[in-house]
Amino acid sequence: MTEWEKIQWNQIAWRKRNDGIDFYQTPERCVEKLLEKIQFLWNILEPCSWAGAISKILEKKWYSIISQDIRTDDWVYWTKWINFLECNCVFDNIVTNPPYFIAKEIVQKSLDISKDKVCMFLKLSFLESIDRYKFFKDTPLKYVFVFSKRPQLYPEWIEKPKNWWTIAYARYIREKWYEWSPMIDWIR
Ligand SMILES: C[S@@+](CC[C@H](N)C(=O)[O-])C[C@H]1O[C@@H](n2cnc3c(N)ncnc32)[C@H](O)[C@@H]1O
Repeated sequence: MTEWEKIQWNQIAWRKRNDGIDFYQTPERCVEKLLEKIQFLWNILEPCSWAGAISKILEKKWYSIISQDIRTDDWVYWTKWINFLECNCVFDNIVTNPPYFIAKEIVQKSLDISKDKVCMFLKLSFLESIDRYKFFKDTPLKYVFVFSKRPQLYPEWIEKPKNWWTIAYARYIREKWYEWSPMIDWIR
């Protein structure tokens, strides 16, 4: 990446953090490690794909994937510009790292429109909260894969926000018709 591109990235990162829509990108390692654990059948939607961190790796593995995002800027990697919460579509699998401030809504929408797996990259603390108790009971997770090493969601060279620190993350997998207790495993 050139110096000019890095400056552009920093500007976009700054804008995205400040307009509240969420900038964080999924590290390559987190997608590759997931694919060691889970395979997908048929098509996949990445509904919040932005720069395509997840989509590009799934494409490399020959998955049939559609990428969408609400954002439009120079870095987007999508086939459709769309607000996922208003999306009138059906897909076999949904894989994303959703914006955290509407994570539950994105998960719920994914469950409504998917025919097989819903796979989310989210903070480990997403498991908590009184509000989500019923949500997890009503739509049980099949797997929780905890990242033993906290992922670094900013590239090394990017200007970090002032109060920046690493956060514990996990992969949350739901599968249609799975109705037992979740299974837990760790990703190194
Ligand atoms: C945390 S980033 C993740 C980007 C990408 N999925 C990745 O893993 O690197 C969340 C993305 O969700 C997008 N987004 C926010 N609200 C959305 C909505 N209602 N519909 C679709 N995309 C949305 C943002 O523009 C942002 O690009």
